[in-house]
Amino acid sequence: MTSPRPTDVMMQMMGGFQVSQAVYVVAKLDVPTMLDEAGGPLTVSELAHESGAQIQPLRRLLRTLASVGLFTLDGDRVTLEPIGATLSRNAGDSLYGAAVMWMETHYASFSDLLHTLRTGEPAATHHLGKPFFDWVNENPDRSQQFSDAMASFTSGLRTGMFDHYQLPDGELIADIGGADGSVLVELIKNLPDRRGIVFDLPPVLPAARSTMSDQGLNGRVQITRSTSHC
Ligand SMILES: C[S@@+](CC[C@H](N)C(=O)[O-])C[C@H]1O[C@@H](n2cnc3c(N)ncnc32)[C@H](O)[C@@H]1O
Repeated sequence: MTSPRPTDVMMQMMGGFQVSQAVYVVAKLDVPTMLDEAGGPLTVSELAHESGAQIQPLRRLLRTLASVGLFTLDGDRVTLEPIGATLSRNAGDSLYGAAVMWMETHYASFSDLLHTLRTGEPAATHHLGKPFFDWVNENPDRSQQFSDAMASFTSGLRTGMFDHYQLPDGELIADIGGADGSVLVELIKNLPDRRGIVFDLPPVLPAARSTMSDQGLNGRVQITRSTSHC
């Protein structure tokens, strides 16, 4: 097999912003969930009707994403491929939340990355006018969206990450910046002699409390608020 030419690889990297925005839009329109729930192909017109999108731009978007493996198109019929299925809300390893969160919280700030290199100031602080987590947490919906996406990384991307990990000795494990506590759950759920702390900013803590209740870990995990800024 011949390696791709360096110029081809670089072109793919340079166009990454287009792909990530296209992935965001198709997730936001919920097209992967619709195809998943249909259990088979749907037409572009059906998907446009159900999602509220215009037919022509949706066809172009789906063709673009077919070229990177999310769908196959047979005329007007659209089939969901395993890569695209990771964006279905119903997938066990769903990355829907992460796809939406990244584009709605991180994408715009990245346009100021050069500023960071010139000044040392985080691009997000410059772009948003305040530190990133102040901005995330001033809006409860955004804060929840962020925590949900972190949890989806743990349940999807990081599945099995701790399977062969042996915690060092010690009774108490603190997750600093632990978000909704999903990582801590993975670490201690099967170790009844261990206790935990989730330490995070105040707006994030309700999500951590809810995770611990759902997992029956209230008695073993302390939820602690940080008063500092990021
Ligand atoms: C990238 S997330 C990581 C979440 C989690 N540890 C995980 O790996 O899924 C960073 C977390 O740090 C928290 N955080 C940011 N600034 C903080 C601060 N000053 N004190 C405590 N937590 C903070 C955020 O609220 C967020 O939940």
